[in-house]
Amino acid sequence: MLTDAVDIIEPPANAVMIGTGKGGVGKSTLAAHKAAWHAARGERTLLICVTSQDDDDLGIERFNRGFRPEGPSVLNGQGLYRSIYDRTPLVPVKEVRPNLDVVPGGEAVGELLTLLTARMTVEGIHVVSSLARALAPLAPWYDQVVFDSAPEQDSLEQLALAAARWLFVPTRSDDTSIRGMRRIARNYKLVRRQLNPYLKVAGACLYGSNPSATQLHEEVRQEVLRELGTQTPMATRVVGYREMPAVNARRKGLTFGEYADLLPISAKSYDVAAGRATRADVVPDSIRPLALEMDLLNTEIDALCRKAPAT
Ligand SMILES: Nc1ncnc2c1ncn2[C@@H]1O[C@H](COP(=O)(O)OP(=O)(O)OP(=O)(O)O)[C@@H](O)[C@H]1O
Ligand SMILES: [Mg+2]
Repeated sequence: MLTDAVDIIEPPANAVMIGTGKGGVGKSTLAAHKAAWHAARGERTLLICVTSQDDDDLGIERFNRGFRPEGPSVLNGQGLYRSIYDRTPLVPVKEVRPNLDVVPGGEAVGELLTLLTARMTVEGIHVVSSLARALAPLAPWYDQVVFDSAPEQDSLEQLALAAARWLFVPTRSDDTSIRGMRRIARNYKLVRRQLNPYLKVAGACLYGSNPSATQLHEEVRQEVLRELGTQTPMATRVVGYREMPAVNARRKGLTFGEYADLLPISAKSYDVAAGRATRADVVPDSIRPLALEMDLLNTEIDALCRKAPAT
C-alpha cells in the first residue's frame, strides 16, 4: 500500500513561477515579458506555460515564430501533456526570440488533471513532481526558466511549484485577487513542505494599477505580508493599467518593448481619417510608458530573486 519515499528533485537555479491563484491578473503577460527580458540580455531562457489557455503572447502559433520540433505538434499544450504522459523530457519550440525557447500552453494542459488524478491513486504525491522530472534533463541548457501558471487550478499550480525555485506573485487590489493569493500561499506551503524544500517566495507586485495610488499600494502590501509572510519583498514598481496597448501588443504577438519599437513607423490617426490605414495600424503612444514600466519591474524582480538566499 505504501509508495516509495518522496524523491526530492532540486529545481534549476533560476526557475521562477509567476502565480497568483486568480484569473486575469496579468500572470501570462508578466511571464512572457520576464522570459523575453532575460533572453534579450543574452541569457538562455525557457518559458513553460502550465496553463490551459494559450494566450500566444509571443506569436508562436499565429505568426509562426520559432522553430517547431519535428514530429507531433507541441502547440496548444500538446507537447507538455505528451512529455508528462510519456514521462519524457520537455520538447520546446526553439528560438521564439534569440535565446528564448517556449513550451506552449493550451487546451491539452487541462487534460493533465485527469491523468494526474488517475496516477495519484498508484503513485501518490510523486505525481506532483512530474513536471520537475520532465524539466530536469533540459535544465543545464538554460540560465533562466519561467513558468506561467493556471488560475484557480490547485493541481496545475502545484505541478509548477514543485518544479520552481521561486514564486513571484503579481496581484491586483480587489478582494478576489487577495483571496487568490491565499490559495497560492496554501499551495506554496504544501509543495514546499512535502516535495520542494528549495522553493521560496521571491516577492510580489501590484500589477495593472494606477502607479500614483500610494495609499492603495500600502493596503495591498499589508495584505501581501499577511498572506505570503512578513518577509515577502514587495516590488515598488507598478505596471499601470493600460488596456489598449496591452491588448494590441498581445494581438500582434509582440512584447510591449517590441510593439513600442514600431512607434516611429506607425500609421497616425490622420492616416486612418484619410482611409490610408486602419485603427489597428496605429500604435498608441501609451505603449511607451507601459514598456518602460514592464522593463523596470523585470529589473526589480531579477534583483529580488538574486537577493533571495539560496537554500
Ligand atoms: N498593464 C496592463 N493594463 C491593462 N491590461 C493588461 C495589462 N497587462 C495585460 N493586460 C491584459 O489583461 C488581460 C489579462 O492578462 P493576462 O492574460 O496576462 O492575465 P492572466 O493572469 O494570465 O489571466 P488568466 O488567469 O486568464 O491566465 C489580457 O487581456 C491582457 O492583454
Ligand atoms: Mg494566463
